[in-house]
Amino acid sequence: MTLPGVLGDLCRGVLEASWAEGQRRGVRFAYTRPSPSRYPWQWYWDSCFAAISWRRFEPRRSRIELETLLAAMRDDGFIGHVVFWDRPISLWRLTYYNVSSRRAEMTATIQPPLLAWAWRIAVGDPAAEPRIARHHRWLRANRDLDGDGLLWIVQPDESGLDASPKFDPVWGPRSQAGWGFPLLVARNRRLGWDARRIRDRGHPVLCEVLTNVLWGLARIAAGEPSITPALVDRLWDERHGLFLDEVQPGGARPLVSTWAALSPLALPDLPERIGRRIIEEHLLDPARYWLAVPPCSVSAQEPSFEPNRARGWKLLYWRGPTWVNAAWLLWLGLRRLGYDDEAGRLADRLAPVVAREGLREYYDPRNGEGLGARDFAWTSLIMELADPDPPGP
Ligand code: GLC
Repeated sequence: MTLPGVLGDLCRGVLEASWAEGQRRGVRFAYTRPSPSRYPWQWYWDSCFAAISWRRFEPRRSRIELETLLAAMRDDGFIGHVVFWDRPISLWRLTYYNVSSRRAEMTATIQPPLLAWAWRIAVGDPAAEPRIARHHRWLRANRDLDGDGLLWIVQPDESGLDASPKFDPVWGPRSQAGWGFPLLVARNRRLGWDARRIRDRGHPVLCEVLTNVLWGLARIAAGEPSITPALVDRLWDERHGLFLDEVQPGGARPLVSTWAALSPLALPDLPERIGRRIIEEHLLDPARYWLAVPPCSVSAQEPSFEPNRARGWKLLYWRGPTWVNAAWLLWLGLRRLGYDDEAGRLADRLAPVVAREGLREYYDPRNGEGLGARDFAWTSLIMELADPDPPGP
């Protein structure tokens, strides 16, 4: 069998085995668990990635997956980053999950809001679904703190990048890799996870690059004005050739090179000059991101680079290993800007690793060893690289 054939079987098998369905107080749900043994609930961005993958195997499920996120939406348009459809969270998780109580039906925090983009790729025109417009209205009203279209987050996990070292200078010991994370959760719980209240009390809020890249893609998909010019204005750092987050209050711009700093490559309207600079100075540099199994999630030149410390201590996620969703988003930029050989090489290095190790949460960028959760659904995005351009919805 060909490599795409082997991978296709593997991905379909994991997606099917991770499918959960049922009813909660009369509301039907069906979604892909990010990893049945480790992440049993519905996670917002995992679901969007799973929906994108489902279109290759059973397109009906792409719509059902995203409709389940919409079914969790509050009347005001808010959708939490984890939805507890079929079982409440355990007591010990209460200390570091963003919920107001154990009875909460979902967290009170967001994840990168790419639903409309996933809908466009896998289902159809998001402008034809009024609930998506309502969701976008909530995000604008509550998280666009400066009126330029960019969103602000109140905790590291809102970006999906949890323990990334780029959050260490922002939240210090309260960052997700630190001992004090439960204190951050407790404080934000008291402030209702309200971004304006948090900022106005002098606590950090962050205009984070990746969140805004995925939000930007969602807006373009929904036919709303692009925020790419605002992203370039606010977060592009000409001196280092990277996109860097902004912290408020204070305006600090921590200089930590992670793949998020390169992620605007996924934007279709990123100025070409900027895209080429990111690719040539950073992504393709064998001392930074282009290791044996690229792209590592943190530049290998960062002192915090930890490609394989996740085994003992789960909280060291995101500090170096290679993630397939990241690989795909950066690959999109390589292809768009005509780096076809490099895009092909990325696929040629990553696809056999996934076939050998199975769908793991992440991989050691030096030797491809599979790490973290098993049967990890969004790693099925490997099909985007291994078999580009399947028929659309
Ligand atoms: C981890 C990841 C987050 C993901 C979740 C479920 O918390 O950091 O991005 O959504 O697992 O896979």
